[in-house]
Amino acid sequence: MRVLFVCLGNICRSPTAEGVFRRLLEERGLAHRVEVDSCGIGDWHVGKAPDPRTREAAARRGIDLSGLRARQLADADFAHFDYLLAMDHDNLAAMRARAPVEVDAHLGLFLEFAGLPDRAVPDPYFGGEQGFEEVLDLVEQGARGLLAELVRRLEARP
Ligand code: 4NP
Repeated sequence: MRVLFVCLGNICRSPTAEGVFRRLLEERGLAHRVEVDSCGIGDWHVGKAPDPRTREAAARRGIDLSGLRARQLADADFAHFDYLLAMDHDNLAAMRARAPVEVDAHLGLFLEFAGLPDRAVPDPYFGGEQGFEEVLDLVEQGARGLLAELVRRLEARP
């Protein structure tokens, strides 16, 4: 199973989701069953580590994002990943606009699996410190919901 988290810059929300979800998989002994990656719609930050505010907020919860580097969404991602999960509605619309006509992957909002249909992870980039904590809170909730979804799928397809 392969999961790609998608935001605008790939330096705040989607790397946070990648780090949080990867740790959750490790805790459940499922890291070898699920490939996890993240990317951005835009190319402004390609090659950069996550934003220092994002890294600090994650580090406060014991998650190290310093090894991640931003990359842009690529055409090949639509064939490679089973789930392409956007952080907000704009990211989802941009992703859908780029998707091939025929795509087997699930394209949707990340928080739908946390029982929060239509809910976005708000972009914290131009805001204050609190926005980064809110990203962590929502991402932790989303990650637990996504794990439950994947466990159901893995059990149906051992
Ligand atoms: P992200 O946050 O999409 O969560 O990585 C942003 C990062 C950078 C910009 C916007 C959002 N930016 O405009 O450069």
